[in-house]
Amino acid sequence: MSKKISVIGAGSVGAAIANDLMIQGLASEIVLIDVNEEKAFGEALDIYQGATFGSPAIVRAGDYTDAQGSDVVIITSGLPRKAGQSRLDLAQANVEVIKQITPHIVAAAPDAIYIIVSNPVDVLTYVFTKISGLPENQIIGSGTILDTSRLQAALAQRFQISPRNVHAHVYGEHGDTSFVPWSLAHIANNHIDDYKAHAPHGDEIRWDKDYAEVEDFVQTSGAQVIKAKGATFFAVAVSVCHIVKCIFNGAGTALTVSTMMHGEYGVDDVCLSVLTMVDNTGVRGKITNDLTAEEVERLRLSADKLKSIIAQLDI
Ligand code: 2OP
Repeated sequence: MSKKISVIGAGSVGAAIANDLMIQGLASEIVLIDVNEEKAFGEALDIYQGATFGSPAIVRAGDYTDAQGSDVVIITSGLPRKAGQSRLDLAQANVEVIKQITPHIVAAAPDAIYIIVSNPVDVLTYVFTKISGLPENQIIGSGTILDTSRLQAALAQRFQISPRNVHAHVYGEHGDTSFVPWSLAHIANNHIDDYKAHAPHGDEIRWDKDYAEVEDFVQTSGAQVIKAKGATFFAVAVSVCHIVKCIFNGAGTALTVSTMMHGEYGVDDVCLSVLTMVDNTGVRGKITNDLTAEEVERLRLSADKLKSIIAQLDI
């Protein structure tokens, strides 16, 4: 498979993504681009020197022109979230970074599918959509894919089942107003609240409609990891690699990623996550599952919060 992927930003997240791309064999060429050229050089060399045990990709540092011909560009640049800081505190500083990067990278790789990872991811996906001039199908914010993975991991433990048998997703902002549409949550084909009655005899199911507790766990997971180790990067890196895999697949995969809304659920002109079909064309469309009135209200609250942040920004 001959695929070229450029990763902008060689911090912990960018480097972890590049390493996972190499290990998973998702690219034949990986270019790391960072204003700190030495850091990009060091990370690329470190990753490349493990390629003999991973997959034989070329991994190198470069500048924007080296992104030419990329199939996928992953943007991780920007200041990281610090302990006690909300993703939205970062907004204006990282908007400036996106504004600086966008014209250069889009000129070099106009046909790539872009994955925006930097925080606040929904705001930055919106800004990138507005200023890049690219078709919207080429723009994917990593959104709540990581929150969904955290949710599935938490539920898998409670239900003694593989996370792959957990069909539950996090919608809305990648942040404090995210929520789970519980009406759609299923475990091995049963609605989550009914599963216990059908589970194998003897399984210890720990579930008592603990919606708020689980949502709180998901919403605070990032902050908890940052408090304990200073940053989060491993889980976000594999989540982003999963998006890349879905882009390289012909079949569509339903993912919670952040894209521009056009009136779905009454939400317009903001980027946030709902179940979205991703394939080799990028964003194929949204899956407009029926939500309850309360869930629609929560999605709108998430949208309103993001819009009020965007309104305060200098884009
Ligand atoms: C996370 O949730 C920091 O947004 C990042 O891990």
